[in-house]
Amino acid sequence: MKPGASRGVPPLRIAIAGGGYVGLVTAAGLATLGHRITVAEAQEDRVHDLRAGRLPIREPGLGALWDRAMERGLAVTAPGEQAYAEAQLIIICVGTPPRDDWTQDLASLEGAARDIGSALAHSHQYSVVAVKSTVLPGTTQGPIRSAVEKASGRRAGGDFGLASVPEFLAEGNAVEDFLNPKRIVVGGLDDASTKMVLAAHEGLPGPRVVTDIPTAEMIKYVSNAFLAARVSLSNEIGNICKALGIDARRVLEAVGMDDRIGPKFLRSGVGFGGSCFAKDVRALAVRADTLALGSQMLRATLQVNEEQPRRLVELLRGRLDSLSGRRIALLGLAFKPGTDDVRESRGLAVARLLVQAGARVVAYDPMAIPNARRVAQDLEYVGTSAAALEGADACVIATEWPEFAHLGREFKAMRRGLVVDGRGALDPRDLNIEYEGLCW
Ligand code: UGA
Repeated sequence: MKPGASRGVPPLRIAIAGGGYVGLVTAAGLATLGHRITVAEAQEDRVHDLRAGRLPIREPGLGALWDRAMERGLAVTAPGEQAYAEAQLIIICVGTPPRDDWTQDLASLEGAARDIGSALAHSHQYSVVAVKSTVLPGTTQGPIRSAVEKASGRRAGGDFGLASVPEFLAEGNAVEDFLNPKRIVVGGLDDASTKMVLAAHEGLPGPRVVTDIPTAEMIKYVSNAFLAARVSLSNEIGNICKALGIDARRVLEAVGMDDRIGPKFLRSGVGFGGSCFAKDVRALAVRADTLALGSQMLRATLQVNEEQPRRLVELLRGRLDSLSGRRIALLGLAFKPGTDDVRESRGLAVARLLVQAGARVVAYDPMAIPNARRVAQDLEYVGTSAAALEGADACVIATEWPEFAHLGREFKAMRRGLVVDGRGALDPRDLNIEYEGLCW
């Protein structure tokens, strides 16, 4: 879409609290629609980098969008009252990391809310505060609203607007997800709040879902819970299929042809990773506990996901008799292809189990080695698949990077050509290897 195309409203002054993954994609995306954007970011060096056009994340298309946004006047500043003083719409995009007990740490969010409140205290215009950070139902109207009201001395609803506008951005596809959303969900405290958020998104395609704030917050959790549950169900089906000598991939492909089910998120294997699925499913499960409801499906979704790496390692142990002292080539550390993100990576989960069992793990990933190194020092890292496979007793594939599909003669350098594929990344036909899929 051309910048500002088909927009019937004048550009808005929008401040984005948080220059992380969600904040940057949102800022660049809204700038494309013609709005005047200020990003408030707490890390000084990041402010510096962003102003110089250096992005801290890799995301296809974001660099070009960011450069264009900067040319159109996007500003990056430190957080604080000043950052929000002029804004008609303030979108909070700061992180809500999980605590050890799986509850959410709202410190950054409340900090941003206080800064925004201080700005509103001196402002003479009507502004809307919208939360894009993933928060449990009740958070925006509870602690966030209170923090803004307390710091501003003003009242939500009358003096300023309040809304929830959850993000549905998948890593590696975030720009596309922003510019061509499946739906835009807006939960507003009142009509004025909703209208402002809708106006900010005018020009984007896709249906609008207008609702109240807790419903909007919940839609985000349920979306991720559904996707994660589909993956775990596919994995459990995959385990059963394998025991029956059936290829789960053929089964799930046919199942997905029913349009009541659909073809996506039915890939079985070593499980889901990433910063969102496990975190959000856990947070919702804990919330269900606090409501004295419990949550069998959510817990099972997590359990199956924890079990898959163990299954893979047991399968390997069965084939090698013992893992102790074995050299295992681990291909894939990123939680999915196209990213260097290793949060909740199933490859690293497999690696931890292998190291515990006394194996020597030699790992390769096209992008994620620097991040993996930071959290897993007891692995050996090499720069190519070939180097990982050299002299290995077995190979594990934990991420379906396209380049792994082209491996062939590299397997010849293994001591024993055993490959356990956790993702269906490899077509073993014509390869002279012992191949075993996790769910097929
Ligand atoms: C996910 C959602 O897809 C986004 O819509 C959401 O906005 C985002 O979380 C978030 O809450 O911020 P993301 O974590 O980037 O996005 O990655 P996905 O592409 O959804 O994949 C998650 C994991 O599931 C990956 O490890 C992937 O390998 C795994 N997966 C996915 C499977 O194992 N099987 C499948 O069929 C699909």
